[in-house]
Amino acid sequence: MDFNNTSDFVSNFWNIYVAVLALVSIVGCGVFLWIQDKAKSNAGQTTGHVWDETLQEYSNPLPNWWRWMFYITVIFALVYLVLYPGIGNYPGFFGWTMRGQYENEMKKADQHFAPVFNKFLSQDVMTVAANSEAREMGQRLWLTYCAQCHGSDAKGAKSFPNLTDSDWLWGGTPDKIKATIKEGHDAVMTPKGTKPDMDAEQVKDVVHYVRSLSGLPNDSIRAQRGKDLYPQACAACHGPDAKGNPDAGYPNLTDKVWLYGSREEEMIDIVTNGRTNRMPAFGDFLGDAKVHLLTAYVWGLGGGVKADASSAGPMAVLDGNTAKIYFATGQADLGAEAQAVMQSLLELAKANPAAKFAVSGFHDATGDKAANEELAKTRALSVVAVLKAAGIGDERIELRKPAETTGTGDNKEARRVEATIL
Ligand code: HEC
Ligand code: HEC
Repeated sequence: MDFNNTSDFVSNFWNIYVAVLALVSIVGCGVFLWIQDKAKSNAGQTTGHVWDETLQEYSNPLPNWWRWMFYITVIFALVYLVLYPGIGNYPGFFGWTMRGQYENEMKKADQHFAPVFNKFLSQDVMTVAANSEAREMGQRLWLTYCAQCHGSDAKGAKSFPNLTDSDWLWGGTPDKIKATIKEGHDAVMTPKGTKPDMDAEQVKDVVHYVRSLSGLPNDSIRAQRGKDLYPQACAACHGPDAKGNPDAGYPNLTDKVWLYGSREEEMIDIVTNGRTNRMPAFGDFLGDAKVHLLTAYVWGLGGGVKADASSAGPMAVLDGNTAKIYFATGQADLGAEAQAVMQSLLELAKANPAAKFAVSGFHDATGDKAANEELAKTRALSVVAVLKAAGIGDERIELRKPAETTGTGDNKEARRVEATIL
């Protein structure tokens, strides 16, 4: 966009018109003043005009201070118009624009706050969600950019989804939430689904069938008829089992969560007229760091789904007296495998009920050191939590400071936590 173009007019005529008007009035003022200056005046005498019987007018020259102030005003106006925009679409000598000034101020603010925001960008969403400073920042962003639609408590409203429950139209893992905020989503339900020739009775039938799926009051004869219509009219989007499809934002119709309400008339209206809904894209506007904080904030509201544990979960091995747990980049969760290894370690420890455990985290040398240490600590604490859950008291657990290591040169080796029976 050309921020230097101060004019919103489509045709140049208006630019010229405004320019001429401005210049003619200013120059006109100057000329008028000059003419008045030159006009004959007789100090101390009257013009001879009389109003209201006694009111007369002196024919004195203009006072000097007044005249010069007027000249200065005219000159100031002309100089101003040379330097700043004002005549048509001439941008002025300085090229100043309101928009440009705003952009500059925003840029300065961004530079100022960048380190604060970027600190969290290097941590994974679940770690950020656990950080109270990040949550506060996320909440402020939320109130500024999101609350007008989803509500300040994020519980949503009709057509705006509740983000605090575990029901997701587009998926609730950190990656999915981030994609939603960054790229936005369009949801389209076509009127009468994929069977536009349905009449009002058939629409009612299929609605009753859908109601029966989530235990809403329904007419069983209608529901039976609707069941036959469903595959042709609705299954393409909501799925043959009506459980929806979060990859495309098609809602699950078998749960008890309704974006548009669960009364019969409301559902008939939706099916008859269809719906379109839009979550705007915020990626370009907010930038990665703010989107990251908002993702963590939304994820942490209570409904966040963990990143796919089967692929991202850590590997784990029991090596003598030591459980070694290897985490995926950015992850701090113990998967099933790690849990099993920890249980084996606890079995081993049973031989000596007084045995102490040392827990130490390692992190690799890539990325932000402070963030790495924080993550290593979070990982170590999830291991400690397993020990505590098995009844091991604090006095028997020694938490060691995270150490940086390149291990065997393999970064995976470096992203580990060790729990050792001492
Ligand atoms: C102009 C209104 C509007 C604003 C502003 C808005 N949203 Fe949304 N958002 C929506 C709508 C509408 C949907 C539902 C889209 C659909 O029906 O599929 C939605 C969906 C979502 C979803 C997906 C929910 C799910 O169940 O999968 C997330 C996450 C989300 N918004 C987060 C945000 C965040 C974070 C912000 C602030 C940066 C925000 N929204 C600002 C209207 C808005
Ligand atoms: C082209 C895909 C498509 C088809 C076909 C379709 N739907 Fe939908 N439906 C959607 C989408 C998308 C939404 C969510 C709209 C939104 O997010 O605002 C939706 C929403 C709904 C809702 C509201 C859900 C809520 O939470 O309030 C109901 C009820 C519904 N559909 C029923 C049906 C029935 C019954 C049929 C078959 C007659 C059908 N749909 C066919 C895409 C479809």
